[in-house]
Amino acid sequence: MVYRAFFDAVFSSMDPEKAHERAFAAVRAGRFVTRVAFKQTRAPRTVMGIEFPHAFGLAAGFDKNATGVPGLLALGFGHVEIGTVTARPQPGNPRQRLFRLVEDRAIINRMGFNNDGAAQVASRLHRLRQTKVGRDAVIGVNIGKTKVVEANDAVADYVESARLLAPYASYLVVNVSSPNTPGLRDLQAVDELRPLLAAVKDVADRNPSGRVPLLVKIAPDLADVDVDAVADLALELGLDGISATNTTIARPETLLTDRATIEAAGAGGLSGPILAERATEVLVRLRARVGDQLAIIAVGGVTTPDDVRARLAAGADLVQGYTGFIYEGPLWPSRLAAAAI
Ligand code: FNR
Repeated sequence: MVYRAFFDAVFSSMDPEKAHERAFAAVRAGRFVTRVAFKQTRAPRTVMGIEFPHAFGLAAGFDKNATGVPGLLALGFGHVEIGTVTARPQPGNPRQRLFRLVEDRAIINRMGFNNDGAAQVASRLHRLRQTKVGRDAVIGVNIGKTKVVEANDAVADYVESARLLAPYASYLVVNVSSPNTPGLRDLQAVDELRPLLAAVKDVADRNPSGRVPLLVKIAPDLADVDVDAVADLALELGLDGISATNTTIARPETLLTDRATIEAAGAGGLSGPILAERATEVLVRLRARVGDQLAIIAVGGVTTPDDVRARLAAGADLVQGYTGFIYEGPLWPSRLAAAAI
């Protein structure tokens, strides 16, 4: 509540990306950690052969370049999924590319995979893994396609990222579901996805320091038959899991924010509580399809401790959130972690 008042007074009047940068700088500097004693939940669970301190983690897109993992873990996240990282560094889309729909506690973003590129992120992770905190950390690495790379060369581009980053990843995620790289979501079609996942899996399996678990992250906008098709493909290829879901390109009528504001924001992926219903539907569908053969990371609209419990009850192995963190602030991760048992 205190944070909400602070948020409303300070951050809501600031450009959202600047607010993100300032808040993240404070997290990196450990500024919150010295002021607040964070309860660290210990409810270890082994998923994909990895021991997670508890089931709740930070979804991809917040720490794209792996610059803030220790500070984020100190706030109470059990794991951090970094990225999306692309093989080549790229600036992303022109600003403004991040918009808040405050009444819906939602975000529209078209960041476009702004990131330092796989080589630089790999060397950052290499250094991090040499520290005590970094060695013990569960760090997922989410990879995507470099924008300027042609669709025909997408497989080689993902393979390059996987090769550079697998040595430092607790698990790898192939992201084919972000709406802000032209053509990316077309890779979710099974005929496109099969060679891509097979090639990345080969790299993950042959990682010199040991096999790295591999997941695919899907969009909430897939039709149910396509969700089933991806699940069947993941089983066929022997993947370790599926992350569901990414942001939506839909703009549901039930949004409270006025249409002019929504339209002014323009294209991009919508996140926040509005996603919860479809993300849960996809989770339930996947679980019914794959039984206990694959891990499922539930993401999309997770905002309250009850949301965490509901996703676990619906069959999730792990739960992640992003937008809730933006609106609820630094105490949010430890509150949700306490429910991730
Ligand atoms: C994201 N998300 C995201 N996902 C991903 O796989 N790679 C990425 O780079 C990003 N980037 C990103 C930026 C911003 C500003 C937001 C809000 C989201 C999607 C994110 O990981 C998650 O799947 C969705 O946001 C749904 O969860 P929440 O936000 O409703 O908890």
